[in-house]
Amino acid sequence: MKDHHPSDQASVPERILESWEAKGVSRRDFLKFCSAMTATLALPATFVPRIAQALEDTRIPVIWLEFQACTGDTEALLRGNQPTAAELILDHLSVEYIETVMAAAGHQAEEAKNRAVEKYKGQYLVLVDGSVPTGEGGAYCTIAGESALEVARKVCGNAAATIAVGSCASFGGVPAAAPNPTGAVSIAEAVPGATVLNMPGCPVNAQNLTAVIVHFLTFGRLPATDRLGRPLFAYGKRIHDNCERRSHFDAGQYAEGFGDEGHRKGYCLYKLGCKGPETFHNCPSVRYNEGQSWPVMAGHGCIGCSEPGFWDTMSPFYRRLPNVPGFGVEATADKIGLGLAAATALAFGAHGVASAFRKGDKVEADKVIKED
Ligand code: SF4
Ligand code: F3S
Repeated sequence: MKDHHPSDQASVPERILESWEAKGVSRRDFLKFCSAMTATLALPATFVPRIAQALEDTRIPVIWLEFQACTGDTEALLRGNQPTAAELILDHLSVEYIETVMAAAGHQAEEAKNRAVEKYKGQYLVLVDGSVPTGEGGAYCTIAGESALEVARKVCGNAAATIAVGSCASFGGVPAAAPNPTGAVSIAEAVPGATVLNMPGCPVNAQNLTAVIVHFLTFGRLPATDRLGRPLFAYGKRIHDNCERRSHFDAGQYAEGFGDEGHRKGYCLYKLGCKGPETFHNCPSVRYNEGQSWPVMAGHGCIGCSEPGFWDTMSPFYRRLPNVPGFGVEATADKIGLGLAAATALAFGAHGVASAFRKGDKVEADKVIKED
């Protein structure tokens, strides 16, 4: 991901740079951060000053909920780099409740959450990590005597917007994999009618999540999404379209086994089960761990972790995809989603694919599978 040129940042007011310096963030790091955000959001460089201003002026209350998850998404964010996601969230936004790192505990913490819901009704932002178990009356996940379902409905139902952080909150994730013993559902399914943005990934990419928050602070709304509720700037292109091994795919050069000559030479991982051709995410350009690497770069095929129901629909992870012809590099999830559903169904069984679709899409998916 290329940063914009420093001259694009010249008009950021001095007082803003000084204010961040006083918080321990050098002007260079702050400008680099703003620049990286405009690049991630695919905005012109002229937006750098506007983003800097919004970060300075706007404070919104935030409630961070954790349900049925491994805390990987929270960890991914809190361990982010740059002036950073963590600093942005914890120091700049008004965080009313975040179990993992808040000082308060027990009743005191719950009171803070309930107070924030009442006081900032319709104005606060919610970040949710984890799926919501609905089985046994919600008994699989309770917090202070309330089920995750009750908490989600109360907190997300009264928010300005909710960001489903990671695959579990977005689509149910691993807890919802067959046979889904806890009846796990996504946030959008748990709280119908709520404004929910899905940020799937296992874990979420901290840079993408930070960019969404910056977008909300700057424009007062969530970014444009695809039909699965994912922001287009991060999920608008397939892994396969931007993969650094793509030239090997096109040349028919494949690794046939882990550690073989092709694998050592960086050949395409398609035959080792890479699901990059049917996965929408910007991993090749944004990468993980401070932009250091991402699965395919590390020598492992993509397992499609940002797609609905990936644990069921993308497995076996090491079996190659069937040939799915006809996708140009300009394809989008909206255009080809149902075609992929049908193709994947042929390879992995219709049941898994149907379960990958949220309620609204299921009927259509069933129809496509039946007609094929
Ligand atoms: Fe990259 Fe996988 Fe596509 Fe090969 S199949 S080019 S490794 S995304
Ligand atoms: Fe997930 Fe594939 Fe990216 S496994 S992290 S979507 S490369």
